[in-house]
Amino acid sequence: MITMRSSVFRDASKLSLSYIPGRIPHRELKLQQLIDYFKSVVDNKVNYEHVFIVGNTGTGKTLVVKHFENIIRGYEGFIPIYVNSRFERSPGNIIRKIISSLSMERVARGYSLEEVFTSFLSYLVDHDLKAVLILDDSDHLFDKHKEFIYKLSRAEEASPKFINNLSLVFVVHGEDVINKLDPWTAAGLHKNIIRFEDYTYKELIDILNYRCSEAFYEETITREAIITAADIATAYNYNARYAIELLYKAGLIADKRREGLVKAEHVRLARRETFPAFSFDELKTLELHEKILLYSLADVLASEDKAFVTMGELERRYRDNCLFFHEKPVGHTWLWKMVNVLATFGLITKRLSGEGFRGKTTLIGLPSFPAEPLAKKLYELIRNEIRR
Ligand SMILES: Nc1ncnc2c1ncn2[C@@H]1O[C@H](COP(=O)(O)OP(=O)(O)OP(=O)(O)O)[C@@H](O)[C@H]1O
Ligand SMILES: [Mg+2]
Repeated sequence: MITMRSSVFRDASKLSLSYIPGRIPHRELKLQQLIDYFKSVVDNKVNYEHVFIVGNTGTGKTLVVKHFENIIRGYEGFIPIYVNSRFERSPGNIIRKIISSLSMERVARGYSLEEVFTSFLSYLVDHDLKAVLILDDSDHLFDKHKEFIYKLSRAEEASPKFINNLSLVFVVHGEDVINKLDPWTAAGLHKNIIRFEDYTYKELIDILNYRCSEAFYEETITREAIITAADIATAYNYNARYAIELLYKAGLIADKRREGLVKAEHVRLARRETFPAFSFDELKTLELHEKILLYSLADVLASEDKAFVTMGELERRYRDNCLFFHEKPVGHTWLWKMVNVLATFGLITKRLSGEGFRGKTTLIGLPSFPAEPLAKKLYELIRNEIRR
């Protein structure tokens, strides 16, 4: 007798964002390429390397560097340091993360960041260690903390005996970040680039089949459901994260309805509560003024039923909102930097105006979330943050 299972999931956690799957279909070669770049460091032919990993959101970049981190950890004398720069936003936090990987926190107390960084570099040299710092989602550092990138990439200048044992892996969304650096810093970086192209439809289906085989029972998910998820993700450059989240939510819906089977319609229903770029929770990681800026955008778009706002309009609304929250607004240049940061996170879009506008102006859109709930959520977060 066949009894219906109480849940369609074999193990729902296998679809969570923090889970790292053991296999990486269609990305094995990228991982190998990354390892190959470090071959001469491992063989002691050079002291360090710099690599850029570039690709759109949901193309498996984080997954590959996490596998790489584990591989490096297995090498004698190597220390991998993974930092998600979307969460650790300031150089100070990144340095703290670096030293915590060596249990040097005690040493660091009472010293300036510069001194701590220098003693980290000495520690590496004295103990004959090599570190590989992986800076995931580091686009914004190229906008806001160029000086810091300069320091990291020219560590031999800060290091005793002028030896640099610090390799860098930058994970970014667009190659143009390198052009933002001054020629001096750019020249100091080895620009080894690995490009993660968007998945194809077929590749995405393979990935989803694999991920679903871990998370669902074989008989509790239909092929149609998987195809539907891939098909919806087509509109978002085959973003694997989005497709996986759709299937996870579809599973929850199937469970709630006690249907015992995930169907295409559940995936379509899940779409209503799934956002492709950022999760609602991640909004907390934005800096206060980024929150106010994004709030201002959502606020205008929700109240005026528009597709875009001009940069000028957005800036005015941002200044008004700063007054409202009793916060000193940032200057025009900094505001542009924040717009770039929000755009690289996929939260907003920027485009140059075409017909219907006098002169050229930048238009800002909000593809990531519906404006009204976003404005509400940000309002709460901003209020809480200011109160603290
Ligand atoms: N080749 C793959 N095999 C299995 N799972 C994958 C693969 N590629 C991506 N995924 C899964 O899809 C999700 C998104 O991948 P990942 O986080 O690596 O994307 P990303 O390129 O780092 O995106 P972002 O730029 O937004 O950080 C993760 O849950 C990851 O495990
Ligand atoms: Mg990532």
